[in-house]
Amino acid sequence: MTGQRDRWAELTGGEAGEEYARRFARLAESGQDIHGEATFCTALLEPAARILDAGCGTGRIAIRLAELGHHCTGVDVDPSMLAVARREAPAREWLLGDLARLDALDLPPGFDLVLAAGNVIPLLAPGTEPAVIQHLAAALRPGGLLVTGMGLDAAHLPLPEPPVTLPDFDHWCAEAGLTLRRRHATWSGAPYREGCGYAVSVHSRATA
Ligand SMILES: C[S@@+](CC[C@H](N)C(=O)[O-])C[C@H]1O[C@@H](n2cnc3c(N)ncnc32)[C@H](O)[C@@H]1O
Repeated sequence: MTGQRDRWAELTGGEAGEEYARRFARLAESGQDIHGEATFCTALLEPAARILDAGCGTGRIAIRLAELGHHCTGVDVDPSMLAVARREAPAREWLLGDLARLDALDLPPGFDLVLAAGNVIPLLAPGTEPAVIQHLAAALRPGGLLVTGMGLDAAHLPLPEPPVTLPDFDHWCAEAGLTLRRRHATWSGAPYREGCGYAVSVHSRATA
């Protein structure tokens, strides 16, 4: 661990796993589609792709991606979130780890897609964002995709104001050798326009 608390831990005290899972269960019961991220990623992938769910939380997305036939590894630093994932899908790979020290997990590189959904990037520990993006980029195969979803205003974040701007994020990605390929305003693919409160971005690592 870096020793620095991430913004998610500051907000939740590291005890949000069960409540987070209940929130999505309630949304599903009310008829909402809670699998938009997995559907979006699958449309970008060949069958049986290798995916790293970075900041996987309770495993909501990785479990769905596995149901869709992909091979997912979930990494998260919050044991309360991982406890839910392990209970819901004990056979899957759930790793406790800090994305700012992803190298410490010795994951085999070459992932087809790395996903950081659900505001993982704005919820990192302040100042660790460039290092995390370097690690996520290094985990990709040449041509592999980094897919992120993040709020850009208070209405789309569990924070009073956005800690990360899109120009900052794109700059960190460029420094990590990633190129922006597509940007949407929602997981269902609505076009992104300047001033949107949410961005779904697809960056790619250069081909060899
Ligand atoms: C709002 S939750 C989103 C969980 C999941 N991606 C989803 O969309 O359901 C944000 C997650 O990012 C994780 N996170 C924040 N900083 C992290 C870090 N440095 N390393 C690993 N996980 C981190 C938190 O522990 C938390 O589970």
